[in-house]
Amino acid sequence: QIKGFLFDLDGVIANTSAYHSKAWHQLADELGVTWTEDLGNQLKGVGRMDSLNLILKYGHKENVYTEDEKVKYAEEKNENYLKLLNGLDKSEILPGMEDFIKDLSAHHYLISLASSSKNSPLVLEKLDLRKYFDEKVDPATLKHGKPDPEIYTRAAESLKLKPEECIGLEDASAGVTSINGSGAISVGIGDPTVLKDADINFNNTSEVTLANIEKAMDNKKV
Ligand code: G6P
Ligand code: MG
Repeated sequence: QIKGFLFDLDGVIANTSAYHSKAWHQLADELGVTWTEDLGNQLKGVGRMDSLNLILKYGHKENVYTEDEKVKYAEEKNENYLKLLNGLDKSEILPGMEDFIKDLSAHHYLISLASSSKNSPLVLEKLDLRKYFDEKVDPATLKHGKPDPEIYTRAAESLKLKPEECIGLEDASAGVTSINGSGAISVGIGDPTVLKDADINFNNTSEVTLANIEKAMDNKKV
C-alpha cells in the first residue's frame, strides 16, 4: 500500500530544469563543449560537480582543468542559475502540480523532497510550496548523487516508510534510475523514450493526478 510520495523538484514541480539547462549551456559554450539535446538530458537531475564533470567528459576535456578551476566554473554556473531564478514565483509551478500536491496532502499521504539541488529550499520558498513537505533530504549529506539510489532511499527513510510504500516522481533519466534502485515505484514525467525505465509514464505534469496514478498502477499491477 502506498503511503508516501517522493518528489524531485526541478522539472517536476517547477519549470526550473529549463533554467539549469540554460545555465549549463552557457558554461558549455564558454568551455568550448558543443551543446546537444543528448548532453542536456544526461545532465538532468545530476548534481552540480557531477554535471560539470559530465560536460567536460562529453567534450573530451576531463583532464584540462584543476579541481580549483572546476569549483570556480561550477560556482559561475550557479551564479548564472540564481540570476535566472530572480523573479521566480508561483507562475513557474508546472501545470497541475500545486493541485496534485494539495490533493496528496488532503489524502494524508506523506511527502518528502528528493532534489539534488542545493537551491531547492530557495525555490520551494519562492513557489510557496514548502508547507506541503513533511520532510526533505539535504543533498549536501549524500555520498552519491542520482543515478545512485541513495537520495530516494533516504527520502523514504525520512518519512519512516519502506521505499516499496512510496512513489517517486522524476523528469530525469538519472532520477528514474535512482528511484528504481531504491525499490520505490517510479513515475517518469516527460519524453517516454528518454524515461523508458519508469514504472509509470506521463507525457506532462497535467496528467499527474492521484486518479491517473491509481489507474496506471492497476493496469501495470506494479
Ligand atoms: C537538480 C537539477 C540539476 C542540477 C542539480 C544540482 O537535480 O535537475 O540540473 O544540476 O539539481 O543543483 P544545484 O542547484 O545544487 O546546482
Ligand atoms: Mg528534475
